[in-house]
Amino acid sequence: MAIRRVLRMGHPLLRQVARGLVPAEIGTAEFQALVTDMADTLHDYGGIGLAAPQVGESIRVALIEIRGGPTRYGELAAMPLTVFVNPVIEVLDPVTAGHWEGCLSVPGLRGWVERPQRVRVQYTSDRRERRTLELQGFNATVFQHEFDHLDGHLYLDRMTDLTRLAFEREFERHLRDA
Ligand code: NI
Repeated sequence: MAIRRVLRMGHPLLRQVARGLVPAEIGTAEFQALVTDMADTLHDYGGIGLAAPQVGESIRVALIEIRGGPTRYGELAAMPLTVFVNPVIEVLDPVTAGHWEGCLSVPGLRGWVERPQRVRVQYTSDRRERRTLELQGFNATVFQHEFDHLDGHLYLDRMTDLTRLAFEREFERHLRDA
């Protein structure tokens, strides 16, 4: 078990387009060690998603784990810890809705981001299986946020109204239920 340090905004690696993995790279001991480290890191930092570039690996791998029920992001549909390799997102409905997002690479802040709320994700699992998933609502937002990391984007890039950027404490006090 190894908890990695999460790179923060300003580190150039967070702004690179990560490279895809070839099938032979998926499931190797090195790959599994990275996935285990990423899961340990995600749990230690208390996040719901983590992309490989955030721990210094510029490859197209992301982990998402959404515990159902009440969370700091509201009431969510649960998703067990899942590994996404080379994910591709297709927007099924261009209508957007906003959510308050946070990011382990941008600690202490929350920002309101509008994104499409119905998407289809095609990806390779950590067992090299091709998978397809359809997502709605906040879960669709979470996936777009994580996969943005693979293209060098942070949620701040997606904000259209910077008056809706806040520190977490002020967010909790003044904005969460507003
Ligand atoms: Ni993030």
